[in-house]
Amino acid sequence: MNIQGLLDDIVTENNAALQEGAVADYIPGLETVDADQFGIAVAMNSGETYRAGHSSTNFSIQSISKVFTLALAMALDGDELWTRVSREPSGTPFNSLVQLEQEHGIPRNPFINSGALVVTDRLLTLTADSQECLQTFLRQQSSNPLIQVDEMIAASEKATGHRNASLAYFLTSYNNMVNPVPRVLNAYFRQCAIAMSCEDLATAGGFLSRGGRGVDGSVLTADQVRRLNAVMLTCGTYDAAGDFAYRVGLPCKSGVGGGILAVVPGICTIAVWGPRLSKSGNSSAGVTALAKLTARTGWSIF
Ligand code: DON
Repeated sequence: MNIQGLLDDIVTENNAALQEGAVADYIPGLETVDADQFGIAVAMNSGETYRAGHSSTNFSIQSISKVFTLALAMALDGDELWTRVSREPSGTPFNSLVQLEQEHGIPRNPFINSGALVVTDRLLTLTADSQECLQTFLRQQSSNPLIQVDEMIAASEKATGHRNASLAYFLTSYNNMVNPVPRVLNAYFRQCAIAMSCEDLATAGGFLSRGGRGVDGSVLTADQVRRLNAVMLTCGTYDAAGDFAYRVGLPCKSGVGGGILAVVPGICTIAVWGPRLSKSGNSSAGVTALAKLTARTGWSIF
């Protein structure tokens, strides 16, 4: 299979999809990006990496960070975490407050903001410094020691993240937040503000397609990674998870920076990036590219 040729074709064909949707502007800083950029990278389990477009340009990983914090918490905590967060699709926007009250402070899943705040809280309890732990992990797994937080985006989220603050205090009122809210929010905003390229992301996510095997030994057991992929498939793209399963057919995690990480178990990990988002908060060009790639390679899990 000529994977490089497929990626080059997808980049060439992707101009129309790149104009669909709008760049996220609720976090000031994200909207300053050049929205006409598009990148794709495929990291094969056999070791080769294929790239096309703006695959080495850094962007804000935002909610894609939630896959990595969940992986770290699962590795350290086993099943304990699931007493504080469910693993069902939410059917509501990623930052909704309503469901959290109806369900007595137990977030629907670890990828909506409330669930991710619980995971970050747990990681803060389990590690001396969750942010350091995440950054070290990403640098190791991608072999890029330069990965770091975009301080401008982190500050911007801190200044405007009132909804996340509301969710965190709400969780505290249900005794589902252990650490002080400002500490959890700071760690959460900084994890979302990490900047990475498609190349970095596809490489760092390799353990997800290799049965839990990282660059340097096991990150998760095969059982754990199978489950993490299941949560990505059902909850990783929020209210569009059904459409993603239909069009792409892979476990995916999106972020409002326009990135999507996708896993082809046993074969490769894919990262795409296009800043304009659909109404559900997922990259429009990203989903179009992934749908084409899985259609042409047969990589859907279905
Ligand atoms: O908390 C927020 O709203 C952002 N830092 C992350 C949201 C996000 O990326 C949702 N993903 N599609």
